[in-house]
Amino acid sequence: MDTEPLSSVAFHAYLCDLTVINICTLAYRPTLQWLRRTLIAGQPQQPVSVIDIGSGGGDMLRRIWKWAGKRKINTDLVGVDLNPWSKQSAEKMTSGMPIRFETSDIFDFHPDRRADFIISSLFAHHLTDDEVIRFIRWMDAHAVHGWFINDLHRHPLPYAFIKCFTRLFGFNRLVQHDAPLSVARAFVMADWRRLLMAAGIPMERIRITWFFPFRYGIACQCTDTGSGPRVGVPATFTDGQRSWLLPSGALGVALFQKPSARRLRISGESMTATAST
Ligand SMILES: C[S@@+](CC[C@H](N)C(=O)[O-])C[C@H]1O[C@@H](n2cnc3c(N)ncnc32)[C@H](O)[C@@H]1O
Repeated sequence: MDTEPLSSVAFHAYLCDLTVINICTLAYRPTLQWLRRTLIAGQPQQPVSVIDIGSGGGDMLRRIWKWAGKRKINTDLVGVDLNPWSKQSAEKMTSGMPIRFETSDIFDFHPDRRADFIISSLFAHHLTDDEVIRFIRWMDAHAVHGWFINDLHRHPLPYAFIKCFTRLFGFNRLVQHDAPLSVARAFVMADWRRLLMAAGIPMERIRITWFFPFRYGIACQCTDTGSGPRVGVPATFTDGQRSWLLPSGALGVALFQKPSARRLRISGESMTATAST
């Protein structure tokens, strides 16, 4: 999808299938869990603003809106996506919910005020290493309280699984092609350490968590020194849990760590998915 120009119908079909995959792979859980932990119980006085980068069909924001609604938390939700069909598609699927969608390349997106939280899901693996570093810095400059990256763990198991799953259940051609490629372009723990370090983010502010099945959540607590003007701050926020970086041996992920180049080789099939510089 990064290379092929798509019609609005094809892109909408792709986003619909992606929503089904997101549901089946428990994709919303890491982000919602982080939001829950970051927002303490109690009523924020002002709407909590969240920007979702690479928002696609907008399903993560719809989940957040429903989740916050149940807790009587007011929200100000914005999705940003490069592809103009994304806004069209997301608006179609989001009728009745006060969520805004914008069309922009993230690196050209300059909101007039910072958001409380910036999130992304299945977005970072679309970027080169240099762009990931830039993206991390961008989020750090534009978030008041924190940011969260939700992305895949590069590993042969999810690669093989998603390849079979999308074929077996007849997902559209683009999803069959993109889903395994996304795993191949994704990250291991060592990538995140290297990229965060290169972006100049102190590890004390970072927490990296592995989630079943094969996802990483990269949570960052902001220090409120960003450059943009402040947005209204909800009355009650925790200062986050103590941030920590999981030791690489934790959860057994160390077994699968391969530092440096983001590339996955599957039984002689060399993926041309290298996203490192
Ligand atoms: C795999 S989709 C993920 C969609 C959604 N976040 C989800 O989890 O289902 C990645 C999205 O990122 C968008 N995207 C890619 N590069 C971008 C950029 N530089 N700026 C903004 N959006 C971008 C694509 O258009 C696409 O909709």
